[in-house]
Amino acid sequence: MDIDVKELSDLLCGSLIGNRIVFLEEVGSTNDYASELAGQGAPEGTVVIADRQKEGKGRLGRTWQSPPYVNLYTSVILRPDIEPEVSPRITLVAGIAVAETLIQYCREGVSLKWPNDVLINGKKVCGILTEMKSGEGKVDFIVVGVGVNINMLRHEFDEELRECATSLRQEIGTEVHRPDFIVRLFDGFGRWYRIFLSGDFEAVRERWTALSGMAGRHVRITSRDRTETGVVTGMSERGGLLIQIAGNGVKEIISGDVTYDKRS
Ligand code: BTN
Repeated sequence: MDIDVKELSDLLCGSLIGNRIVFLEEVGSTNDYASELAGQGAPEGTVVIADRQKEGKGRLGRTWQSPPYVNLYTSVILRPDIEPEVSPRITLVAGIAVAETLIQYCREGVSLKWPNDVLINGKKVCGILTEMKSGEGKVDFIVVGVGVNINMLRHEFDEELRECATSLRQEIGTEVHRPDFIVRLFDGFGRWYRIFLSGDFEAVRERWTALSGMAGRHVRITSRDRTETGVVTGMSERGGLLIQIAGNGVKEIISGDVTYDKRS
């Protein structure tokens, strides 16, 4: 097993993210486990890491394929002093950290896709699931769940995912040391989270936009009750996607699934 918790804890000692590590060989979902810990008072920066998830959760009630020993399944507990409305920005912060970590292994082809995907060469390599508990207009805690396909091989993906999902190993052709990836990720996450806490969302928005390459692309956005098509113009103040709808001005999208139109 390549994850040695003692070694990882030593490497992350004093870090904002990962100052306390809860490592589990197997769990239902690291997000659910972290929410429980947070409810019991676990401090900011506590992370849950599992080698395998039996019920890995994706957005919109989907499942997250979580085979043992190959990937990263982690959930980070945060307690920012913010209003619940701005919590989606945390997903962007996490996305930047993941993308910058991937770039350290794979110089070309890494991009962010709103709101919570990280891609390599157009295929999904990471998903982020941010969940929150709030009360009286304040965030109590936020759990940021990050799933990164690190060493998974093509044949290990569920068949229907093989064309749209990938792993870091699949893209660079060599196995990646997971603890090394984890340390780089939490280091970057801490750095961007500090920037976010300082109130400089503009820096977050700029970096995210630069890493996404979405501006100018034709997209289709599907949500529960409607589908919109348009051209991406940028990101709103609260982290929504701004799209120019043909003949109908710019619209802010707060949730939904984005697919790129073939012409862009
Ligand atoms: C998505 O793309 O739909 C989000 C996927 C998030 C998966 C991660 S794996 C670690 C954490 N625990 C979960 O159950 N889900 C997130």
